[in-house]
Amino acid sequence: MINDLRVDGLGFFLYRSTARPDLTSDDMKDILQVARRRNQALGLTGCLHHEEGLFFQWLEGPQAALMHVRDLILQDSRHRDVVMLDQGGLDHRRFQDWQMRFSDRDRASLMDWFARSTSPTVHRGEYAGGVVAFMMSMNV
Ligand SMILES: Cc1cc2nc3c(=O)[nH]c(=O)nc-3n(C[C@H](O)[C@H](O)[C@H](O)COP(=O)(O)O)c2cc1C
Repeated sequence: MINDLRVDGLGFFLYRSTARPDLTSDDMKDILQVARRRNQALGLTGCLHHEEGLFFQWLEGPQAALMHVRDLILQDSRHRDVVMLDQGGLDHRRFQDWQMRFSDRDRASLMDWFARSTSPTVHRGEYAGGVVAFMMSMNV
């Protein structure tokens, strides 16, 4: 269990981005290895989902560390068109056991998750909420 410094406050962000088309499985391993190492050092946790050439990532932890890593991620040329879906404060972690959980289509499909959604329209807030609900559905 990670001990959060309350002075810094706990925050999160969730984004979607487009993976570089020629990304290899070795690139993915590199991303995860570096991410997990740094996240562990900074007390960050979260999950990354990769499907149909898109990344969806939830990252949570102390605000200062979170903002630092957000800037690194935004500058990373292994993806582009980063769209922040949601960000803010948190009262407790959603992925406290994961330095960076990874999932892809073989594990579970976000697109299928949305296809099964009963909502006739997907607004921006509902979309972000749907992505988080999907991610948390694998959190067992
Ligand atoms: C989709 C994606 C997700 C990433 N997630 C993280 C992350 O959770 N934590 C992290 O430290 N770096 C993450 N990175 C890597 C950073 O963008 C950056 O490359 C790395 O922090 C640089 O580390 P280095 O200076 O030690 O090489 C991610 C990169 C990509 C493309």
